[in-house]
Amino acid sequence: MLQTAFTRMAGCSVPIQQAGMGGAATPELAAAVSAAGGLGMVSLPMVPAEDVAVIVAALAKSTTGPVGINFVIPFLDVAAVEAAAPHCRVVEFFYGDPQAGLVERAHRAGALADWQVGSADEAKAAVQAGCDFVVAQGTEAGGHIRGTTGLLVLLDEVLGAVEVPVLAAGGIGSARAMAAALAAGADGVRVGTRFVATAESGSHPAYIQALVEASAADTVITTAFSGMWPDAPHRVLRSAVTAMEAFPGETTGEMDLGAARVPIPKGAVPSPTRDTTGAIPAMALYAGESVGNVVRVQSARGVVRELAEGAERLLRGWG
Ligand SMILES: Cc1cc2nc3c(=O)[nH]c(=O)nc-3n(C[C@H](O)[C@H](O)[C@H](O)COP(=O)(O)O)c2cc1C
Repeated sequence: MLQTAFTRMAGCSVPIQQAGMGGAATPELAAAVSAAGGLGMVSLPMVPAEDVAVIVAALAKSTTGPVGINFVIPFLDVAAVEAAAPHCRVVEFFYGDPQAGLVERAHRAGALADWQVGSADEAKAAVQAGCDFVVAQGTEAGGHIRGTTGLLVLLDEVLGAVEVPVLAAGGIGSARAMAAALAAGADGVRVGTRFVATAESGSHPAYIQALVEASAADTVITTAFSGMWPDAPHRVLRSAVTAMEAFPGETTGEMDLGAARVPIPKGAVPSPTRDTTGAIPAMALYAGESVGNVVRVQSARGVVRELAEGAERLLRGWG
């Protein structure tokens, strides 16, 4: 299979990182991606540090491949970073200025550190802070979007700015898109939306069905779902914005948060998980421009194989 500086560094057999994605990125999903040869990532927002340690230790034991954990800076719990790092190959951060102190915490525990960035300047700052690799996120991405530049131009700028391995993120949902990113010089790809529509994801079935039915033109960058996280543009299905604006109440539903059952305020950040009840279509249905490549629910292994084997075929075909 395709080997790159990233696969050698992270210990993967294919150059694919599954994106950290809030409640969608369950330990089951991370384990399945890792077992299939990619880098499986877990997100454990709002989970107490002592529980994070237990969950991540169990995840690491469940696969022989590498796993990582994703932290979003506006919701960062430093104790959770400390608790997770000894069990993870990769500790990753997003949506805040790169901080050497956080990178050091990962390194001290023996993990690699990376930062998902939205500009070449942010990539340079991440390397300055000690990151081992960076993820260049183009505006095609689903979920929260850090920068203002599309992937191909951003990737070019980031590759020209840093020496560490660079992964490409945003709108990559097919073997063709993966091959294009690798051909442009990326050391791997980061894939989000495709993994939401897998058997192992934590997402609600109605959300997944909406992804199956949508194409790139059905997504929009908005600040509609800014409750708890203001000034942070995100790409969702346009239908979710329309349904949320038309929703008459203040609370769209309920979901599990740790041991508690909590209300979901209208316009709040969480995407609906399996245990969520209420007006699912009016919640934050994050989707990248890659959503047109979601045509059915697959296994995570199926997605990894489809992308990696297809990209390899294409690249070999081009010589
Ligand atoms: C449902 C969903 C949730 C996301 N949540 C996070 C997150 O918690 N942390 C993060 O770093 N990125 C998050 N992202 C963004 C991804 O890291 C990545 O940039 C994006 O999925 C790439 O675009 P794609 O969805 O077209 O593959 C999320 C994306 C999606 C689709």
